[in-house]
Amino acid sequence: MLRKEQNDYLCQTGPGTPMGNMFRAYWMPALLSEELPEPDCPPVRVKLMGERLLAFRDSEGKLGLIDEFCAHRGVSLWFARNEQCGLRCPYHGWKFDVTGQCVEVPSEPAESGYAKKIKLKSYPLIERGHVLWTYMGPPEKQPPLPEFEFATVPLKQSFVTKRIQECNWLQAMEGGIDSSHVSWLHRGDLSNDPLFKGAAGNKYNMQDLSPVFEVVENDGGLLIGARRNAEDDQYYWRITPWVMPCYTGVPPRGDHPIHGHFWVPIDDENCWAWSYDYHPTRELTDKEVSAMQDGKGIHVKYVPGTYIPLANKTNDYLMDRAAQKAGRTFSGIEGIGMQDASLQESMGPVCDRTKENLVGTDNGIIMARHRLLRAAKALADKGVTPPGVDPEHHKVRQAALLLKRDVHYKEGAREALKVKPGVRQTSV
Ligand code: FES
Ligand SMILES: [Fe+2]
Repeated sequence: MLRKEQNDYLCQTGPGTPMGNMFRAYWMPALLSEELPEPDCPPVRVKLMGERLLAFRDSEGKLGLIDEFCAHRGVSLWFARNEQCGLRCPYHGWKFDVTGQCVEVPSEPAESGYAKKIKLKSYPLIERGHVLWTYMGPPEKQPPLPEFEFATVPLKQSFVTKRIQECNWLQAMEGGIDSSHVSWLHRGDLSNDPLFKGAAGNKYNMQDLSPVFEVVENDGGLLIGARRNAEDDQYYWRITPWVMPCYTGVPPRGDHPIHGHFWVPIDDENCWAWSYDYHPTRELTDKEVSAMQDGKGIHVKYVPGTYIPLANKTNDYLMDRAAQKAGRTFSGIEGIGMQDASLQESMGPVCDRTKENLVGTDNGIIMARHRLLRAAKALADKGVTPPGVDPEHHKVRQAALLLKRDVHYKEGAREALKVKPGVRQTSV
């Protein structure tokens, strides 16, 4: 349970809020590379942490993320012409480059130097691993580029999507570190989904519905270990890394690609659920990629031409009561991604955490909230750089393994949790 002030503190990420300042200490996924495929392609509206921005790729291929609105009289530059290394506002022809610098005000004589004095807010935008990342904090504090493994393996070894989720980022992220719901909500999919089924470890998920959680602090966040009984005096461990503030990794299954998420605030009532899949040592197969494109695994099907899930709040997520009754899906909703999203959105745009009753399986969530509160306060009060900014903190892997019952996973899985280029994930 949280007090209302604590809940607001964690959930609000607009400019000037403590948590908003903390989010602005990190590189965040802003767009998919596919959204800006070529020089002078159409610009794209981007809303992040309550700020309305516009992304574009200029004639030379340079990327920019600038204020959405024209400095003249506030027209949305989404209507602009992307031409000759800049966006030209269609209203009176003012032109801006990728840094937000105004380069032309046609009504003023060029020699007056008027344009030079006008600059829109802008943030860096860089491409890495199918994703365009931005950093929205103070320029002098810009950290080195992100090193998450999914974004650094060769492009053919990874697949990344995003979808809009209509709720605050925190309740979405909390779903990502809540390993206990898998045996319930997703049980039908463990045996059916092409990107989940067939792993030897799945049987432990189904046999032991009361995992014991052991959460330990890690440099960049937390490791959330969920332990289930296995044969021969062993435990089956699933270890979920959380890197602050909003990166989570799903423990792997068999040789399936590894997956996980980023939960990025759009504003206080919406977030982007980013979903990545990658394999550390091999290209994804055509079969895997077409399953992902078809909304299997943690990905979803879309309303054509958008990143809005086809099953969404307006159509009750295409609830199938017959499938629910027959147990084909546990909740009646199809697909792991929308099973999660439907329930998280059902809590309301911002979950009221003053009313909840937490239990042992929520330990990861409890510790994550404390860590976020502590870090945001340390940044606000003393300017301390929060955990997860250092790219070394990104180099953690999710793992699933069997360990003797007297071995703690922090020891037994030490090597498995490290990113080792060219070395396969640890998974059963
Ligand atoms: S509003 Fe953009 S040029 Fe006038
Ligand atoms: Fe889930």
